[in-house]
Amino acid sequence: MERKALYAGSFDPVTNGHLNIIERAAAIFDSLTILIAVNVNKKYMFDTDERLEIMKKVTGHLSNVTVDTHSGLLADYVNEKGFDVYVRGLRGTTDFESELHMAQMNARLFKGDTETIFLMTDPKYSFISSSLVKEVAAFGGSIDGLVPECVVSGIRSKSQEV
Ligand code: COA
Repeated sequence: MERKALYAGSFDPVTNGHLNIIERAAAIFDSLTILIAVNVNKKYMFDTDERLEIMKKVTGHLSNVTVDTHSGLLADYVNEKGFDVYVRGLRGTTDFESELHMAQMNARLFKGDTETIFLMTDPKYSFISSSLVKEVAAFGGSIDGLVPECVVSGIRSKSQEV
């Protein structure tokens, strides 16, 4: 039986920590959909189309990965498409509480048997967040090795726009 997995997030921008989770999830499941979703509490640097294009570019080497966007409730997307697994990454204990609440809320909203599962972030990337990367870049610090090459140049050009 084919095991379909979903990995959703803002990915503003995608980091090497996210990519590590994506590559590991793609190796475990038959197919992996990456969903560029909306966290209503966030203001984004890259618009949805930009985040979609970047994600397609950096996952182009993974043949069982597809990328999609969705602006509503995550559970509506899951209930429409049907997934066996919803993958989340955990960087440490600070992620745990909010992830637990999201997983429990989603469990109420998922109509099928979709399970939320957590992959532990590789310790190399446990200190990275999209906001921190943007902040360091905004002050001219090096973000090499933290995000894919195309994201480094993307952030630099966004910083010059403001
Ligand atoms: N490596 C690096 N950074 C990581 C990471 C990893 N492995 N895992 C998480 N992060 C960071 C991200 O960079 C991000 O940093 P930021 O807050 O500085 O931007 C942070 O952890 C959280 O990222 P993400 O996993 O993308 O979550 P999010 O909060 O941006 O988005 C959604 C979560 C979009 C999936 C969620 O809000 C959602 O489902 N929205 C749809 C509406 C909905 O259904 N809401 C109810 C949910 S119960």
